[in-house]
Amino acid sequence: MNMYRSHVLVCAGAGCISSECKSVQNALIENININGLSNEVKVVETGCMGPCDLGPVVMIFPDGVFYRKLKPEDTAEIVTEHLLKGKVVRRLLHQAGENSDQAVTFDQLDFFKRQTRIALRNTGIINPESIEEYIARNGYQALGKVLSKHSPQETIDFIKASGLRGRGGAGFPTGLKWEFTARAAAAPKYVVCNADEGDPGAFMDRSILEGDPHSVLEAMAICGYAIGAEKGYIYVRAEYPLAVERLEKAINKALEYGLLGKNIFSTCFNFDIEIRVGAGAFVCGEETALLASIEGKRGEPRPKPPFPAQEGLWGKPTVINNVETWASIPPIILNGPKWFSNIGTNTSKGTKVFALAGKINNTGLIEVPMGTPLREIIFDIGGGIPNGKRFKAVQTGGPSGGCIPEEYLDTPVDYDSLVKLGTIMGSGGMIIVDEDTCMVDLAKFFLEFVQEESCGKCAPCRIGTKRMLEILERIVEGKGKVGDIELLEELSQCIKTSALCGLGQTAPNPVLSTLRHFRDEYEAHIKEKRCPAGTCQALVAYYIDPKACKGCGLCSKNCPAEAISGEKKKPHVIDLTKCIKCGNCKDKCKFNAVFTS
Ligand SMILES: Cc1cc2nc3c(=O)[nH]c(=O)nc-3n(C[C@H](O)[C@H](O)[C@H](O)COP(=O)(O)O)c2cc1C
Ligand code: SF4
Ligand code: SF4
Repeated sequence: MNMYRSHVLVCAGAGCISSECKSVQNALIENININGLSNEVKVVETGCMGPCDLGPVVMIFPDGVFYRKLKPEDTAEIVTEHLLKGKVVRRLLHQAGENSDQAVTFDQLDFFKRQTRIALRNTGIINPESIEEYIARNGYQALGKVLSKHSPQETIDFIKASGLRGRGGAGFPTGLKWEFTARAAAAPKYVVCNADEGDPGAFMDRSILEGDPHSVLEAMAICGYAIGAEKGYIYVRAEYPLAVERLEKAINKALEYGLLGKNIFSTCFNFDIEIRVGAGAFVCGEETALLASIEGKRGEPRPKPPFPAQEGLWGKPTVINNVETWASIPPIILNGPKWFSNIGTNTSKGTKVFALAGKINNTGLIEVPMGTPLREIIFDIGGGIPNGKRFKAVQTGGPSGGCIPEEYLDTPVDYDSLVKLGTIMGSGGMIIVDEDTCMVDLAKFFLEFVQEESCGKCAPCRIGTKRMLEILERIVEGKGKVGDIELLEELSQCIKTSALCGLGQTAPNPVLSTLRHFRDEYEAHIKEKRCPAGTCQALVAYYIDPKACKGCGLCSKNCPAEAISGEKKKPHVIDLTKCIKCGNCKDKCKFNAVFTS
């Protein structure tokens, strides 16, 4: 094995790929070769490191120096200055704001400082295609430990004692689910990984699969041993081709190393895993629909009970867990349940991965202890709201969840606190919105999503969400009527209590939650025909404040309708009969002179 004096880790997560990290990686390799360093420095392509908006990013070990927003032409300097002379290239370091210090190493970034990475322990740190690198970070030791030292029941007891709850949305205790399946009499039994991840704005599971596939395989094998199953399936959406490719490679390598397949660790335990690629319907993430889809049937939910623990795949007892849940298992086995249950809150143990998206400076992937206050997540780790705008709300739990306004920013993020505020943890998507977002429009966005994704099997979801959407459409178009809010509430209750599966049962949540926290916005739309955020086009008119306008002409230059007139250095005016309400003038004006009614 070659020994290298330095490793250059290049993030190849989805965000960095879209900001052209490949050309940075190629340029790095070229410059390393030109300088004759290829035997001393190794370039490693990793999964997502987390700080997506800073991409392409690179970390150089052993010192952990972190460079961000790289261009291929920056790499020559990194090689000649950093790798040859040992000097940090300061202009490529991250600086959070004008008054903050530059962060030299990754752990000096506020983004990383406050994180505790368990499920993400290897993501962004190792080459996901190298089983050796996974093993070097204690990989497959947990499987070895249970097979050599613990009975199946002891393994289940470990997971129960850790307090781990499912990270896919519902938060059901994982150990209990394993125990129910282990105790079910029928055979064979199955282990399933739910890697469907359909929530808008969520990429936690994708990042784990792409960045650390072996952690999921190892955990599924541990569960197989604990419940008495010899077969596992990973159901992953077709939109994640890199995840599928890396999983395939990981399965093959694990088979080659005898860590999957027959007589694992020379015991009589056999376990193998197959991948099933789903077509990307949101409802196929629902466990009974997912199981039907694996069986080759239409991906439609069925009533529960019976639960999959009793009657799952082909009617046999099945454990189905989420990717992040799986990735948390090996460290629990290795470090012990107490270690895990000491992190987090009383009822929500451990850590949770969140995908920060929307109007936030540091978009990306983070993992924090349960109970971390929202304010810390959004402002300290997330870096706050861009362009000096005000935080308005955060949507948690995707289309099944709800929004949390500014007054609750100090809420600890755990399963129970979020439910008290009318939302849920969900799978960990966090969409942050600022003062320019209309909350009625936001609710409409999520309802449009679930309406489109409803499988149509049951009438409350198929028809009820359509009726709700029609009402919301009317409201944002300025055609809302007194009584619409009450009708929305009535329909919500009816759908929640009568829909067949979780999709329909939770579909009204974004509407109920925005009504709970932003009812005045609904009322302004309906009674005053006004959109307080100034974004619902039908209810908005654009004006220029003559006192603030400097007559720079930037607005008229960018107006596609030639609706703005005015002499240079004199206040401009908008002709409302010509204005098509595109909002360009407001976006472009540097003096905040354009305002909406
Ligand atoms: C409409 C719908 C979509 C879902 N999508 C997912 C998903 O993409 N990934 C996931 O792990 N769980 C999803 N779930 C939850 C699963 O049904 C199930 O509870 C979960 O996979 C169990 O794993 P856990 O206990 O580890 O969370 C979804 C549920 C519903 C109702
Ligand atoms: S609630 Fe919606 S998604 Fe679920 S079964 Fe009914 S129609 Fe299908
Ligand atoms: S909103 Fe668009 S169309 Fe209307 S005045 Fe501004 S730039 Fe012109």
